[in-house]
Amino acid sequence: MLTANEIRDSFKSFFESKGHQIVPSAPMVIKDDPTLMFTNAGMNQFKDIILGNQPIKYARVADSQKCLRVSGKHNDLEEVGHDTYHHTMFEMLGNWSFGDYFKEEAICWAWEYLVDVLKLNPENLYATVFEGSPEEGLSRDDEAASFWEKFLPKDHIINGNKKDNFWEMGDTGPCGPCSEIHIDLRTAEEKAKVPGNQMVNKDHPQVIEIWNLVFMQYNRKADGSLEGLPAKVIDTGMGFERLCMALQGKTSNYDTDVFQPMIKAIAAMAGVNYGDDKQKDIAMRVIADHIRTIAFSITDGQLPSNAKAGYVIRRILRRAVRYGYTFLGQKQAFMYKLLPTLIENMGGAYPELNAQKELISKVMKEEEDSFLRTLETGIRLLDKTMSEAKAQGKSEISGKDTFTLYDTFGFPLDLTELILRENGMTADIKGFEAEMQQQKQRARNAAAVETGDWITLNEGTTEFVGYDYTEYETSILRYRQVKQKNQTLYQIVLDKTPFYAEMGGQVGDSGVLENANEKIVVVDTKRENNLPVHIVNELPENPAATFVAKINKEIDDVMQRIQNNGERIEQE
Ligand code: SER
Repeated sequence: MLTANEIRDSFKSFFESKGHQIVPSAPMVIKDDPTLMFTNAGMNQFKDIILGNQPIKYARVADSQKCLRVSGKHNDLEEVGHDTYHHTMFEMLGNWSFGDYFKEEAICWAWEYLVDVLKLNPENLYATVFEGSPEEGLSRDDEAASFWEKFLPKDHIINGNKKDNFWEMGDTGPCGPCSEIHIDLRTAEEKAKVPGNQMVNKDHPQVIEIWNLVFMQYNRKADGSLEGLPAKVIDTGMGFERLCMALQGKTSNYDTDVFQPMIKAIAAMAGVNYGDDKQKDIAMRVIADHIRTIAFSITDGQLPSNAKAGYVIRRILRRAVRYGYTFLGQKQAFMYKLLPTLIENMGGAYPELNAQKELISKVMKEEEDSFLRTLETGIRLLDKTMSEAKAQGKSEISGKDTFTLYDTFGFPLDLTELILRENGMTADIKGFEAEMQQQKQRARNAAAVETGDWITLNEGTTEFVGYDYTEYETSILRYRQVKQKNQTLYQIVLDKTPFYAEMGGQVGDSGVLENANEKIVVVDTKRENNLPVHIVNELPENPAATFVAKINKEIDDVMQRIQNNGERIEQE
């Protein structure tokens, strides 16, 4: 039996033998395309070549591309872990021809690879072809059908509509009919009852699409019309994990060696067996899936954060942490400990994992720790809220409660919804959105400030000593008045300070500045030019005096940290 790594290599070798240049996967994170946050198809990195905006470097190319389908048009997140064949991150094996070969070779080589090289049973294979679209003036793709007829009996060739068999990059741009290869992995008994050609595209977990061959031959213009492309393009994409499932004789992607080493490592860590308990199995699948997404995103330059693509990654991480916490008893950061298993399995094909392992580990652990600090309290609150709602005969929790979980406890909305679903309940989404709007308005109001000029007492710059000290002797370098709504505050810059400023508008350290004569309360610390600026309600009577700056240690308690870590998220 071929291993996953051997299967990936065999795909590349096969297309290399057909004159293709093997190229590395593009990063999964996309930074320069406002229409896309993550790579969701192998063709993304070739978009400009296909559009003719970039010269063709190689006419034939093949690769294995890291893809992520968790936002926008393609979003499989809810299914992941619950079924056996959806993933957040997956690998797409693809071969391309830019103005070189077209349908005949694409079909013949796909067949040769699956049947002659990999020895898949041709009786289990089905091909779909575009049935045509009168309103577009397009006829059935008889050409593709005629090539398939060389290999498949007519009842294994199925007509498909525009939705399934006409692939478009977007509203405009290259497009064309496509042919999908589906595989029927059901038992002989099931096949005898209902033939496979009736099961194609019916969401059966064992009758699935494995490969999409797109024949790009048109350009969709802004007025909706189609014109022929000067250079025809082949764009194929095969689901690597599904191919492994078919070749390794499994009925779940998670039973292949793509995921089993990770699932075994999770099971060992939690002291459970995969296969014994439905909920625990789901949790293990979720973690085995999500750890790949998180690790590869970090390597490719997307750290978890509070906005846009970063928040997608944070949500995925929090989803995994919650599954581990609730169903596998993981009360401490655990995912980062599974990284060596991931690197052992995927590091050969994707050396970037190994190169960045320290960074991934550090970021993952910090994210886990930060969420775990509030997770338990949040879960308790949610349990209480659910019980109260149930006691009142309700099956919905309010938008306000949902928002508190989100804003104060760092529960992404989809995580709250997931937990509610597990308990047969829902959230008031409209109410949640209204709370979100109100908070944004509050933030906008709070941000309206009027600042006075800086009064300089001493020249110099701040030295931050907070990594080593919680109190330190200090004096004021400069200060200024700040008017914010109805409040008058002062900002103070110290020469040495133990007060740390949180990033991104969150609450920083607080404490006091004191000497024998007076005591000034520091209510917050902001970051300015990367150095701490302290916020106080009143100025010292003698600003030129020497003080001891002391961090309020109680501030470090859990509830305050909850505030510090509370999400103030600009929703994507
Ligand atoms: N672009 C097509 C897809 O994503 C084939 O690679 O399915």
